[in-house]
Amino acid sequence: MTELEALLVAKARNLESHALDAELALAIDVTFPASEPALGSLHPLRRTLEDACDYFERRGFAVVLGDEIETEYYNFDALNIPADHPAREGLDSFYLRPGVLLRTHTSPMQVRTMQNHPAPLAIVVPGRVYRRDGVDARHSPVFHQIEGLLVAPGIHMGHLKGVLTGLFRQLFGPSQAVRFRPSFFPFTEPSAEVDTTCPGCSASLVDGAAPCRTCGGSRWIEIGGAGMVHPRVLREGGYDPANVTGWAFGVGIERIAMVRHGIDDIRVFFENEPRVLAQLA
Ligand code: DAH
Repeated sequence: MTELEALLVAKARNLESHALDAELALAIDVTFPASEPALGSLHPLRRTLEDACDYFERRGFAVVLGDEIETEYYNFDALNIPADHPAREGLDSFYLRPGVLLRTHTSPMQVRTMQNHPAPLAIVVPGRVYRRDGVDARHSPVFHQIEGLLVAPGIHMGHLKGVLTGLFRQLFGPSQAVRFRPSFFPFTEPSAEVDTTCPGCSASLVDGAAPCRTCGGSRWIEIGGAGMVHPRVLREGGYDPANVTGWAFGVGIERIAMVRHGIDDIRVFFENEPRVLAQLA
């Protein structure tokens, strides 16, 4: 009897395992091509911000962050932007309540940091800024900047030009043209604007083509402003302009990333189409 039962159990197992084999043979085709999982990557804006911060950290600058909600005092007054300056009109800024707004640039961190740290000071401030700009191929109401500030005895404009030229060489490679053009900002004197050749121009170089919609036909796009920190701004920060001088700059991350990747429209960075981002990774 036990012998018979043992044989039955063995046979049942045997049948079961054959049934399983048959099922597996149907369900799993080991020769079928595998589907690769989609891997994420850093967003091109994040990569450009990190690469720029990295350049400055290697040179001894501290990275500091500021709040996106800022007071009128730090965003404007402390930077020698008087109350009747056009940049303060409601059209350019998003006010949350009187005296408080979404920062229009990363520059408010200049005086905020100077007020809390004695000279010498070497900082960069990456971050998001807000302006009531219409959207087009090179404008967005929300964008990113990186601000730089170096204050110490004997600092001059040559230092600024050298450091920024090195930054753009690092971000763009050696063959991208960059020009410094005299300009005006209330918080620097003298001031310069920095341009580079337009990333959208190649199609418009064809005879008879409409002017480039990225640069409007000028062949250059502005990527930032810079200059020697105005003595009033140094004083507002608690520094004595008789003892120290400084340079400052603010550059636009979207515009720089457009040039790095040959993109002719800023909206690409905010649409976040995965197939586009994958190509920029
Ligand atoms: N804050 C300026 C802007 O957003 C850019 C800028 C210009 C920053 C000159 C600076 C500077 O620090 O020195 O248009």
